[in-house]
Amino acid sequence: MADKLNDLDGKEWVKSTKSWFVVNPQSRSRNQMTHPAKFPEEVVTRFVKYFTRSGGWVIDPFAGVASTMVACKRLARSSVGIELNPEFVEIGQSELKRASGFGSHHILAGDSMDIAAILETQFGEDVPEFDYLITSPPYYNMLRKSRGGNETVHKERGEMGLKQFYSGLPSDLGNIESYDDYLECVGQILDALFPYMANEAYLTVVVQNMRDEGNVFRPIAWDLARRLSDAYELRQEQVWCQDNKRLGCWGFPSTYVSNVHHHYCLILQKHVKDED
Ligand SMILES: C[S@@+](CC[C@H](N)C(=O)[O-])C[C@H]1O[C@@H](n2cnc3c(N)ncnc32)[C@H](O)[C@@H]1O
Repeated sequence: MADKLNDLDGKEWVKSTKSWFVVNPQSRSRNQMTHPAKFPEEVVTRFVKYFTRSGGWVIDPFAGVASTMVACKRLARSSVGIELNPEFVEIGQSELKRASGFGSHHILAGDSMDIAAILETQFGEDVPEFDYLITSPPYYNMLRKSRGGNETVHKERGEMGLKQFYSGLPSDLGNIESYDDYLECVGQILDALFPYMANEAYLTVVVQNMRDEGNVFRPIAWDLARRLSDAYELRQEQVWCQDNKRLGCWGFPSTYVSNVHHHYCLILQKHVKDED
């Protein structure tokens, strides 16, 4: 029999396999509010409980303010996060300190395009073998585009003196102009992690499709699913729904523009056939 994937009983297992779920983000601390697009720890908890066992290693190459790592600490998994913006790294470190739990946790500052060098500088020859990856890359340059609901949220953040973008750094994937270059960068970062993932390890990549300027649709989730399938096998997706967001009256009365209140959680797996 194959090794057990997780520590869940049958009842919990079944619940976690439903292809959609609702998580409404809880209100955030002032510290966490600094980040323009943090995902809720509850989303990470759902997946980490399903895709790892206690004591497993988890990596997040776009760590933000360390939500993945805080959830891992509470669940007694160990974790590594890489984040470009040093301000988010600092907030992540203090969030991690405040969280109770177990495991070994490392939030590393740097550009994930150099992820192999970052891991090897930190761990030398003892880079952990990762049992699971969960991450949410920038949704292309969505934060820089003015569109419907996005604009409202941004205006409000601006009025409150909060950050509207991740950073002004050219290596920030949220600042890439070309859509194809953006997809390729995310692809290269996950490809570079392939040797560090355990065989049969799962990956969850949380993204959203986007309506770009000029009414151009960017199917980020579907394009990334295809690009990431160069190295990994695409298994399925889960849809994370939010039902506490305000509805905006976009496009009325002539054009279809939806209120996007869901994210795709792409589920991939490293599967090296020779090791069968
Ligand atoms: C969608 S956010 C992730 C938020 C995170 N899940 C959290 O809950 O805080 C994407 C993150 O990727 C970071 N980022 C952008 N380009 C990066 C790069 N080249 N290397 C590492 N991190 C990068 C951004 O600064 C941002 O914090």
